[in-house]
Amino acid sequence: MTISNSIFLKALNKEKLLTPPIWYMRQAGRYMPEYRAVRKGFKNFLDMCKDPDVCCELALQPMNKFELDASILFSDILTIPDAMDLKVKFLEGEGPVFDNPIRNAQDVHDIEPFDADKLSYVYKAVSNIRSALPRDIPLIGFCGSPWTLAAYSIEGRSSKDFSITKKFIENNNIEAHIFLQKLTDACFIYLREQVKAGADVIQIFDSWANLLTESDYQNYSLNYISSLIASLKNDPVTSSTPIILFAREPRCSTEIIVNTNTDCLSLYWSMEPKDFTYLSGKVSLQGNLNPKILLESNDIIKRETYKILDAFEDYPGYIFNLGHGITPDIDPAKVSYLTDIIRER
Ligand code: CP3
Repeated sequence: MTISNSIFLKALNKEKLLTPPIWYMRQAGRYMPEYRAVRKGFKNFLDMCKDPDVCCELALQPMNKFELDASILFSDILTIPDAMDLKVKFLEGEGPVFDNPIRNAQDVHDIEPFDADKLSYVYKAVSNIRSALPRDIPLIGFCGSPWTLAAYSIEGRSSKDFSITKKFIENNNIEAHIFLQKLTDACFIYLREQVKAGADVIQIFDSWANLLTESDYQNYSLNYISSLIASLKNDPVTSSTPIILFAREPRCSTEIIVNTNTDCLSLYWSMEPKDFTYLSGKVSLQGNLNPKILLESNDIIKRETYKILDAFEDYPGYIFNLGHGITPDIDPAKVSYLTDIIRER
């Protein structure tokens, strides 16, 4: 079997398939006892991400358990701000916290030029995972969108409304754009290195797309994603690598997202499948079961999953996924059940 047999790549090529390829956002993580056993050995989550052998083991755990159609690099989107010396750490129950966030205009000017070699541990993880996977299973490399990385870097932590970030971009508009451009350039080099190391597909996570109004979303996020995608499409190393864009609940028309030239749109769980089927032939679609449904009974899981499969039945290039990441409270048995009922339908 070669990679050309992959149903995931076929779907990304907008082919109509009888059974959709399946993978799950955040498929490796705390909901798996195998993950928690490895995690115990590390105080800091990022130290674990800096060990390419461990990353390889963690990426393979859900592959071995559920036989999914695509694997995703085990790492985090915050490796880039960490390499920019913003000093990222993960606190139990709090998520990411930056010791050295971007707080004023000068901080943006002081950022050292991005040194892609600082993230060589990520490229090594990519090549380890690629070598360990069966040849017909694609490996997804990823990065956060420039906007999402900027939001964490300015806010310094996760937040409900990211009010510090919103004030910063209003009061330091020029520097906000300088910072977004620096992040865009870093994402391009970073993804290119991942593809060189063996990533077959790229996913861009715009997890904080929901913070901005339509015009601000175009201005602060989509313009930079479009420019990142254009750079990838114009580079001989990455020009044929399919790109998936996940945008969490964007407050804008679908057209302006599709205009980024992404190959595939990954739908958040609150988005209505029927509203997107008109995109047939233009982009592949991925999604979008609410991960919280996996806390319900098997009957409800089946009903909600089949609703989505029905909506995308004739869609050329549909990939089954969740509408956001699996949370730690989910029972892996429910993930097995979900995978089985999609394949046996
Ligand atoms: O299989 C996989 O997808 C694992 C690789 C992966 C992780 N994070 C590992 C991780 C991926 C693709 C991500 C992406 C990521 N990271 C996103 C985009 C996807 C999304 O959920 O919107 C974002 C926003 C982050 C930033 C981040 N990383 C947060 C907010 C947190 C803390 C909250 C949480 O979800 O745990 C993390 C930590 C993190 N990243 C963990 C894992 C397995 C848990 C860390 C631990 O074990 O302590």
